[in-house]
Amino acid sequence: MWVHHLVIPLLLISAVKCEIDRSPSMLVHYMNLLSIGESWIAITFDLNANGTFFLGKNAERRLEVGFRNKTLYMILPISSSRIQHNNKEKRYAIDFDSIGKVGPSLELIITFQHNHIHVYDVCDEIFAGFEPDLMLSLAHVKVKVVENWQGPQPSHFAIGSGWPIGQKCRLNGVKKKYAQSYSEEIEKGYQPSSFNDMDEIFFEQVVIAPPNFNGCKINNALLHINETRTLDCNICTCLDRDEVTCRALECPAVTCEHPMTRKGDCCPTCGEQCFYENHKIANPHGEVFWPGDCFRCQCWDTKVQCSSEYATCEPPSCPEEDWVYNEKFNCCPKCRDFARFCALNPCHKYATCTDSKRGPKCSCNTGFQGNGTFCEDIDECAFSQDAREQLGGCLAGSMCRNIPGSYKCDCLPGYQMIGEHTCLPLIRV
Ligand SMILES: *[C@@H]1O[C@H](CO)[C@@H](O)[C@H](O)[C@H]1NC(C)=O
Ligand SMILES: *[C@@H]1O[C@H](CO)[C@@H](O)[C@H](O)[C@H]1NC(C)=O
Ligand SMILES: *[C@@H]1O[C@H](CO)[C@@H](O)[C@H](O)[C@H]1NC(C)=O
Ligand SMILES: *[C@@H]1O[C@H](CO)[C@@H](O)[C@H](O)[C@H]1NC(C)=O
Repeated sequence: MWVHHLVIPLLLISAVKCEIDRSPSMLVHYMNLLSIGESWIAITFDLNANGTFFLGKNAERRLEVGFRNKTLYMILPISSSRIQHNNKEKRYAIDFDSIGKVGPSLELIITFQHNHIHVYDVCDEIFAGFEPDLMLSLAHVKVKVVENWQGPQPSHFAIGSGWPIGQKCRLNGVKKKYAQSYSEEIEKGYQPSSFNDMDEIFFEQVVIAPPNFNGCKINNALLHINETRTLDCNICTCLDRDEVTCRALECPAVTCEHPMTRKGDCCPTCGEQCFYENHKIANPHGEVFWPGDCFRCQCWDTKVQCSSEYATCEPPSCPEEDWVYNEKFNCCPKCRDFARFCALNPCHKYATCTDSKRGPKCSCNTGFQGNGTFCEDIDECAFSQDAREQLGGCLAGSMCRNIPGSYKCDCLPGYQMIGEHTCLPLIRV
């Protein structure tokens, strides 16, 4: 059976996707962290900052950790029934005000050890939870690090496997310091939303470590102990068996408005300019321009991508019978040359309208001044005596009275009107 598609014309001058709007400060790194059974996330940031610092999701589940209004939140994927795989999410929120943390910064480590979740600030254990239905194995997961961040950028972001607390706090141990205000709630079923295609990186877990492999396996790579390698834009070191530490590759700052990350690169760069239809003038990378009111183009690293767009059309300033739709890439009507523009009374009531090739010409009537769309009365009585004499009126023996578009002369007592603007003394008999 035939299926009819409604086709919106899409003119691809090149096949580059350009729906990207990422702030230059935003770091995007990818890692298949969540296939590691025992893992941790470490981050140091300002207590007053807000944002998401870890987001890993696939078509079914998401794991999100962030900080807002001095509250750490963790959205963890759980399964209410292992048989049905009915995915749900649980949100944990830990209020740092109630811990008595005054700042200025938090040095968090969140660990996932099977079904146990622990949160540490330096060597204070501030949360310990047990989540029997935690489902941390996210296949084909896509991970974003640090998003929508407000405040100073976090430092020392790292993810890894193993138990970093043991090493870090070995001298003084770990103190329990639990929040008085902490909440847990089941969220509605996760509605998967897709990342932009540009962000799409799939990982397949295909590498199998040989038996007795004494090293670390991460993102399909096997690292020996003490080996450091750059994996998916992260610098990872295998510290001990199954103990990995990774940090994001540092990228130099880019100054352009539309930084882009080329396929295969880790760091954003500024793209190259484009020449639309071989014009001599270049469009800068990232620039959006409209060759027609229904045609939007964007320059993206030497390529121009254009698409038909819906336009909001202002009705043209002529009667509908005079509208024409004939220009390339324009879907809004225009007025034909010498349309009857004046039929729509575009001029001021004290103006005269004349149709021209381009549009209406409005000129204020005699006795009025202005640009034609707006005309105001000229107060002839405010003119100097000389100017009034040239106009020929209201001389000695009269009083000038302004009226719209003209003026009148009223004769003073003892004077008599001769003609429209002249008063002469009455001859007494
Ligand atoms: C921030 O948290 C405090 C207490 O935890 C609460 O009273 C306040 O309404 C929150 N503010 C916002 C903007 O969420
Ligand atoms: C973080 O959010 C809180 C509450 O919404 C706000 O008071 C605070 O100013 C925000 N911090 C930054 C750095 O924007
Ligand atoms: C790894 O490096 C540490 C410190 O340099 C060293 O003590 C250890 O023997 C090394 N381990 C292996 C397996 O090479
Ligand atoms: C005409 O003048 C009025 C008043 O000064 C102004 O508001 C209006 O924008 C002008 N119109 C044009 C087309 O210049």
